[in-house]
Amino acid sequence: MRMAVQFWQMEGQPERSRFIAFENAYHGDTLGAASLGGIGAFHRRVAGHEFPITRITDPKELDSLPGFHDGDVAAVVIEPLIQGAAGMRTWPVGMLRELRRKCDEAGVFLILDEVMTGFGRTGTMFACQQEDVIPDFLCLAKGLTGGYVPLAATLTTERVFNAFLGEVEEGKTFYYGHSYSGNPIGCAAALANLDIFRDEQVLENLKPKIARLHGLLAELKKEEPGIYDTRQCGLIAGIEVRRRNGEAFPWAQRIGAKICLAARRYGLLTRPVLDTIVFMPPLCVTDQEIELGIMAIRAATREVLNLVES
Ligand SMILES: Cc1ncc(COP(=O)(O)O)c(C=O)c1O
Repeated sequence: MRMAVQFWQMEGQPERSRFIAFENAYHGDTLGAASLGGIGAFHRRVAGHEFPITRITDPKELDSLPGFHDGDVAAVVIEPLIQGAAGMRTWPVGMLRELRRKCDEAGVFLILDEVMTGFGRTGTMFACQQEDVIPDFLCLAKGLTGGYVPLAATLTTERVFNAFLGEVEEGKTFYYGHSYSGNPIGCAAALANLDIFRDEQVLENLKPKIARLHGLLAELKKEEPGIYDTRQCGLIAGIEVRRRNGEAFPWAQRIGAKICLAARRYGLLTRPVLDTIVFMPPLCVTDQEIELGIMAIRAATREVLNLVES
């Protein structure tokens, strides 16, 4: 976001300073990232301190959004293919491509937050590849080091990169750094991780695992009355639990948390988003471990729902 804002300032369009983000989005907890977020529980505490954001639910809204086509928007930000913290909610197929098209038409940047989806998680190296979309900024973290060492990276295009080049006196420097920027251990872990992707054909090997997970989720939904919905994007699954009549449990009952605690006894350590159980195994997971994980969620769900619904 800082790069986008500075780019437009240097291009002589400082009025392009507003960001567009999506309802129920999650982009992190620093004040800037939290400003973009659309989840009430996280957002409430920063209310009044955010910078200018417009929140939408559907890219169609951009067509009639004041300012989108006449130049006060810096960028649109989205978690591509799937919103994570919203409860593993997948976007309709084709939505990302449509969003790219609208941003191109309006000359607005598209920022993709692939912190969760990057590095094979959705079945391709990056989620955006599934819709042939190239963003103006690509935000990467978690999977960059295989999840072992904290390291993040922001990628951008040659067009943006070149705009920051110049003599010192021109003042185009991007003043942005952290204590651990370019941390050599993090970078070594990331390079080793990329070697593994190549040497162990990680992406190729994911395909049967994703298919196995797909089959198990379909069985789970069909056979367990307490499982209201299962959602999948590559090796990410959200398993939503509701009352047998389809109503959601009151959130304060913390059914999802109880199921996750019960699942520990069946050998699975995971977390919920409200009453959606998250299943996001490491990419090196085996078929057998996927089966064990889903079996644990099935057993734990039965156990907890029998207690509350009997
Ligand atoms: C989509 C998405 N964006 C951003 C973040 C936050 O990343 P960080 O903790 O590196 O700021 C997360 C963390 O879960 C995430 O899922």
